Amino acid sequence: MAKNLLSINDLTKQEILDLINFSNNFIDEEGNFRKEDLFSDKTVANVFFEPSTRTKMSFAVAARNLGCGILDFNVDSSSVQKGESIFETIDALNLMGVDLCVLRHPESVIQELAEALPKMVFINAGEGSISHPTQALLDMKTIIDHKNSLDGLKIVIAGDLDHSRVTSSFVEGISNFPIESLTFSGHPEMCTKYQNPKIGKYEPDMVQALQDADVVMTLRIQHERFEEELNLDLETYKNSYQLSSEKLENAKGDAIIMHPGPVNYVEITEAVYDSENSVIRQQIANGVAIRMAVLSRFLSG
Ligand code: CP
Repeated sequence: MAKNLLSINDLTKQEILDLINFSNNFIDEEGNFRKEDLFSDKTVANVFFEPSTRTKMSFAVAARNLGCGILDFNVDSSSVQKGESIFETIDALNLMGVDLCVLRHPESVIQELAEALPKMVFINAGEGSISHPTQALLDMKTIIDHKNSLDGLKIVIAGDLDHSRVTSSFVEGISNFPIESLTFSGHPEMCTKYQNPKIGKYEPDMVQALQDADVVMTLRIQHERFEEELNLDLETYKNSYQLSSEKLENAKGDAIIMHPGPVNYVEITEAVYDSENSVIRQQIANGVAIRMAVLSRFLSG
């Protein structure tokens, strides 16, 4: 296994499946996370240059459950505010003996950091619109929990795809498996990168895209990543692209509904979020198990 987890492409298909299987060991029969004092000699730093609830807190919970020391690096009260670079910042943590850095950053800096600081392990917790590998692992685990396998599934991803690191990492991960189909759907101006995809197809009509789907992943509009203000009528957008109970009737009856969070209820109705088909809250819990597996594997070298 690679020293760092910078991209889902750092993992082979077998390593993806092994990590998902391994993560199951950290959940007991009642669904609680096991607490094992396995890494009391290791220190993990959560370094988030962008907001996060799920990823940051689940890495913190996962590290605590494994007995690691966990540092919550606060960018706003750090010397970054005095002009210190990301490289000097992470090198300072490295010199203090931090073993593993969980990094979220709007720019592609993690590869260069990993090369410059070979003693430190790096886990990518979100790289701009480029990648979010642990999200892809927890998404694949959630699908396997419900469908037993990733093989033979009809998967739909709908929403603001152009800005979605969740989509890019999920597509990299799922391309290892013989799925039946992968359909991208959403407003054409938010799906410019997916109109002629390497795998799968683009279907702008969401009702058509949903036909007989097994898995539907919905994504919020990432307003913070648009360079220009969106000129969008929300009611018109919802009519075409919001996953409602009516649109969902086109998918299979046992289709699972996913969303990486946070949910804005523009891309999905509250009724669908709360429906029996929704596994969105399970994705959040699976984030802890996957991150316990990832920390264990990568701290073990
Ligand atoms: N899914 C996800 O990355 O959520 P956060 O931004 O809350 O970490």
